[in-house]
Amino acid sequence: MSLKSLLFGLLATFAAPWLVLVVRPYSGMAHLAPVAYDEEAGDETKGFFPPTRSADQARGQLIYFQQGCVQCHTQVIRPQYLGGDGDEFKRNWGEAQDALAPKRTRQTAPYDYLGDSFAAIGERRNGPDLANAGFRFSTRQAFLEHLYNPQARYDWSSCPSQRHLFSKRTIQGQPSNLAIKTTGKHAPNEGEEIVPSTEALDLVDYLLALKRNAPLPISLGGAKPTPAAPAAPAPALAAPVK
Ligand code: HEC
Repeated sequence: MSLKSLLFGLLATFAAPWLVLVVRPYSGMAHLAPVAYDEEAGDETKGFFPPTRSADQARGQLIYFQQGCVQCHTQVIRPQYLGGDGDEFKRNWGEAQDALAPKRTRQTAPYDYLGDSFAAIGERRNGPDLANAGFRFSTRQAFLEHLYNPQARYDWSSCPSQRHLFSKRTIQGQPSNLAIKTTGKHAPNEGEEIVPSTEALDLVDYLLALKRNAPLPISLGGAKPTPAAPAAPAPALAAPVK
């Protein structure tokens, strides 16, 4: 084999996957911009797709990255034919979830990560997909309790506790209305309370807003809403405050 064909072979071996896996997706996604819903085209939702994050939620997302949540949690709802059935709501992740109705939303689109410096697609699915976590834990308290003591719900849970984002302190005057209730060995002592830091609160604001239910605009290939089943309204931009 001549040196020329060896070099050419090497070049082709590296260039072909690079073109297909890096250049092509990049050129398709790098210039995406928010899309306005178009009433004339048939969109029932108003405003822009995707909905923007509040400043608190954006800070919360940073904490999500800093704490390594992406190592065990994905935020990708695969197409139906790739086993997407469980992605929206992973069944059998603990018996308690079987009792809850699955929430159907659409599969993930590149637009879902618009404006993020990193896409939180996640590395592996050790824990459930969190793309729609906001549907399953609907209150700030529930998320805070899970972050403080994941083993309170399932003693087998390998979700690491984020206790370093909370402080245990002596109650002075009125107890804080943010204080979390938790039982077992991590429960606060008599006269003490456990309060979340700003980081914990921002992280929860981010988690509460994890609801991929904004319909895809028709101009992006979204389905036309049928009169019998109107499209779900756009999610509230701000997370509900409890
Ligand atoms: C070592 C892997 C691991 C890491 C890192 C991790 N988790 Fe988990 N997580 C799990 C596992 C496993 C479960 C399932 C058991 C349970 O519900 O407690 C879970 C469950 C959850 C749930 C409940 C999901 C549901 O739908 O019931 C939430 C919310 C959650 N994790 C948030 C987080 C956040 C936020 C972080 C980062 C601060 C994080 N996790 C980091 C493994 C992990």
